[in-house]
Amino acid sequence: MTEQKDWIKDLVIYQIYPRSFYDSNGDGIGDLPGILQKLDYLEELGINALWLSPVYRSPNDDNGYDISGYQEIMEEFGTMEDWDRLRDACRKKGIRMIMDLVVNHSSDEHPWFLESRSSRENPRSDYYIWRDPVDGHEPNNWGSAFGGSAWEYVPERGQYYFHYFSKKQPDLNWACQELRDSVIEMMNWWADKGVEGFRVDAISYLDKPRDFPDSALPPRPDGYSFPDCLICRPGTHAYIREMNRRVFAPRNLLTVGEVAAPTVEELGNYVKTDREEFDMAIPFVLPKTEIDTWSPERLKKEIEESYQAMKEDGWWARFFSNHDKPRQVSLYGDDGEYWEVSAKFLAMFLHSLPGTPYVYQGEEIGMTNVKLPSIEDYDDPSTRDQYQQYLLSGMDPEAALAQAQLESRDNARTPMQWDGSENGGFTSGTPWLKTNPNTRDINVEAQRQDPHSVYQCYRKLIALRKQSSTLSRGDLTFLETGHPKLIALTRSAAEETLLAFHNFSREEQEIPASLLEGADEVLLSSYDREGGYRGPLLRPYESVMFRMRKD
Ligand code: GLC
Ligand code: CA
Repeated sequence: MTEQKDWIKDLVIYQIYPRSFYDSNGDGIGDLPGILQKLDYLEELGINALWLSPVYRSPNDDNGYDISGYQEIMEEFGTMEDWDRLRDACRKKGIRMIMDLVVNHSSDEHPWFLESRSSRENPRSDYYIWRDPVDGHEPNNWGSAFGGSAWEYVPERGQYYFHYFSKKQPDLNWACQELRDSVIEMMNWWADKGVEGFRVDAISYLDKPRDFPDSALPPRPDGYSFPDCLICRPGTHAYIREMNRRVFAPRNLLTVGEVAAPTVEELGNYVKTDREEFDMAIPFVLPKTEIDTWSPERLKKEIEESYQAMKEDGWWARFFSNHDKPRQVSLYGDDGEYWEVSAKFLAMFLHSLPGTPYVYQGEEIGMTNVKLPSIEDYDDPSTRDQYQQYLLSGMDPEAALAQAQLESRDNARTPMQWDGSENGGFTSGTPWLKTNPNTRDINVEAQRQDPHSVYQCYRKLIALRKQSSTLSRGDLTFLETGHPKLIALTRSAAEETLLAFHNFSREEQEIPASLLEGADEVLLSSYDREGGYRGPLLRPYESVMFRMRKD
């Protein structure tokens, strides 16, 4: 990262999923004027950057991640003037505006695609990935991430097009120079309008092999295989460098790539300075994999590895949540008995790490997973697909639903819980996705009044990060505790050292006395409601952060 880019280290980025944030006109769908109305709330929380999930024109097959007009605003969300007003208001408050950029694919309703599919001769013929049938079938055995084949036949061309995601999300052909020019022109147009950064969606699949070989991975229940050769391709990195050279670097934009990075080396390939690609990366992990394999030990190991690999050169996006994951307190904490302490504990852990923290809407009040009663209540295409795959593999419908409920991205997409009324104050109409019934107990209004709420814990953490640079820039050292579920670490800078302990379990854990030497003032505790830290025997999900004595 260049000196000039240093400002990104002081950000706390709040992610908004606009459809579910705040509905200003009662149609049940969150919108841009709704975000504008809640900007004071975000300012009070203390964040200084806003990442908007896509707000562009879209038929909403994948809630805006299928774009049919890159330089237009989705009608349900408002107008370009609403966007301009939001930008101006953010600027006044010192909040940076970061837009989601979805350029691995567009919508099949984008004019480029309508043209491309019409014939083999049209000027945009090459904007998408077209292949002839092989023996009257799909060109290979690749499965789409949302189920079924990754190929769709178009009679007008007598060819198939490739779609890594749903068939309404055809992949753009980055090998085509005109396509690249069009995308880059669009990005510069947004930068001219005042966008200060991009979160770049699903960006590790841009380059495709010329021969489209069959995947060697075993078939899924639907008979298709995950395309195994699409990631870690040098060609993809070259396309990202082109974006960097032509858009990011000249304009000093913040960039975060959503990437599939199976190793820490590959993660580094996206973010090391000399690569000239992104400032930081959001590694994508399937919810099912995360549910099945996550553990505090693994978390610590991964943090340590990527810290060592990038402490001299590189930077980290720190997040537990986004719109593609189950709610963090349900996944990593405890959404029952220890809901409040574990929600604070997760926040304290994440915000005690070096890197730029991300807060996903509702996380700051400890919103939880939801169990919608029937598969029909789910909107997320990947949940519906997973459910089908489970049925195909022989699961009974009840078990398949239970599994889908656990994994569903809709867990993170239920309306923001502003107050305790029926629809959580999100809308005066009928919300597009059911509200979590626990809005009676978990909501912004209640937590703003309460000095010991999860929300207040986030405010304090964000304020701490602003007060001193130790939390953002200090060195990280993990200390050996003797218990895999007790994580201890220090953050040290020239002015001060902070010391933190995090009990990742429902059992008590004792902090070894030697580790407490020099621990001085308690800065924060996840048990503040219960009177705060009271000694080395940590309670379930207890986190405590100390400042160390200087000597
Ligand atoms: C990314 C987005 C996800 C979307 C997919 C296709 O993973 O975060 O929500 O479904 O890309 O655009
Ligand atoms: Ca609305």
